[in-house]
Amino acid sequence: MISSLSTISLLLSLCSAVISVDAFFQKLLLPGDVSGPRSIAFDSTGKGFYTGVYGGKILKYTPETGFVDFVYMTTLSKSSLCHGIVGPLLLGFCGRPAGIALNEKTGDLYVADAALGLHVVSPAGGLAVKIADSVDGKPIKNLDGLDVDPTTGVVYFTSLTSNSYPVNRDWPLEDVTGTLYKYDPSTKVVTIVMEGLFRSTGCAVSSNGSFVLVSQLAGHDIKRYWIKGPKAGSSEDFNILINSPESIRRIGSTEKFWVVSAMSYSYGVNQSAVVLDSNGRESRDLQGVSIWEENGDNLVSEVNESNGSLYIGTFTGNYVGIYKLCKP
Ligand SMILES: *[C@@H]1O[C@H](CO)[C@@H](O)[C@H](O)[C@H]1NC(C)=O
Ligand SMILES: *[C@@H]1O[C@H](CO)[C@@H](O)[C@H](O)[C@H]1NC(C)=O
Ligand SMILES: *[C@@H]1O[C@H](CO)[C@@H](O)[C@H](O)[C@H]1NC(C)=O
Ligand SMILES: *[C@@H]1O[C@H](CO)[C@@H](O)[C@H](O)[C@H]1NC(C)=O
Repeated sequence: MISSLSTISLLLSLCSAVISVDAFFQKLLLPGDVSGPRSIAFDSTGKGFYTGVYGGKILKYTPETGFVDFVYMTTLSKSSLCHGIVGPLLLGFCGRPAGIALNEKTGDLYVADAALGLHVVSPAGGLAVKIADSVDGKPIKNLDGLDVDPTTGVVYFTSLTSNSYPVNRDWPLEDVTGTLYKYDPSTKVVTIVMEGLFRSTGCAVSSNGSFVLVSQLAGHDIKRYWIKGPKAGSSEDFNILINSPESIRRIGSTEKFWVVSAMSYSYGVNQSAVVLDSNGRESRDLQGVSIWEENGDNLVSEVNESNGSLYIGTFTGNYVGIYKLCKP
């Protein structure tokens, strides 16, 4: 069922030409029948990363150890019942870590679990601790993107839609109930930041904490919500040119972001990943990646940059992809 990314062309302006990337691309295979490394968080020492997979686990990767179990979303996630579970089956029992990000100061790992709500994991790993699965008595559902404000530790996370739909039923187009939430660890309160979003997928906080971005997959835009400064509390369009934007990741301490987008066609999905600057424009030193996946069943969920490479997460694949970037 799971196919690999079939053709990938890497367009590197700094490399002066379109380059075949076979030589640059490496797959880190997940152990056993584990799949779906959807979101990636690098550890603060730069020696490894974490990724959440189907069945409710978060794995830790280092070059020395390979992938090892690091977090269980529930006590069942450890059991054979959840092992290798793919898709929505047992989601509510096993969990499904979607967006993950570290608070680099405390080492706490925050998890937006698609089915189980917002969780946190101590630097020692183990069982994730639930922070919230409702706000003011209303359940928070279908969590997706998550980021931590590097200046305050406040956690921002998105819900694709506040409705529930039967498994395998297409979500109605008119459902515009996505939400951007925030969790303040100092008050332990979750509040709503933006409502009425059209499939809010990714979110990312800028490196100085002045704004948070939220992508609307079906709204075909990225919004900027101001956290600080004269426009604090208001939002505006950040980029309206990227079709179906999904995840957004801040690149380290820069004011730049990797954005993954997807256009569906009846015969497949063409995806691309681009760098946006703090004005929402495609970066001039652009290293765009276009990804053409014939079968469309191994879509790229996320791209972030570390140590001169792109780390690529997928919704259902059995590996994390790594591209060596071409630098001058
Ligand atoms: C970072 O990149 C260098 C050069 O490609 C490589 O030798 C090193 O192992 C990488 N570090 C990690 C933690 O992956
Ligand atoms: C993206 O990668 C950079 C390292 O290059 C890291 O500092 C940053 O925290 C990552 N973003 C997220 C949301 O993990
Ligand atoms: C998808 O991308 C590939 C490679 O960049 C390109 O050859 C193909 O024409 C694109 N397909 C569509 C439908 O845009
Ligand atoms: C944060 O960075 C932005 C550039 O992205 C800059 O315009 C703004 O002045 C900075 N804000 C603060 C509070 O430093």
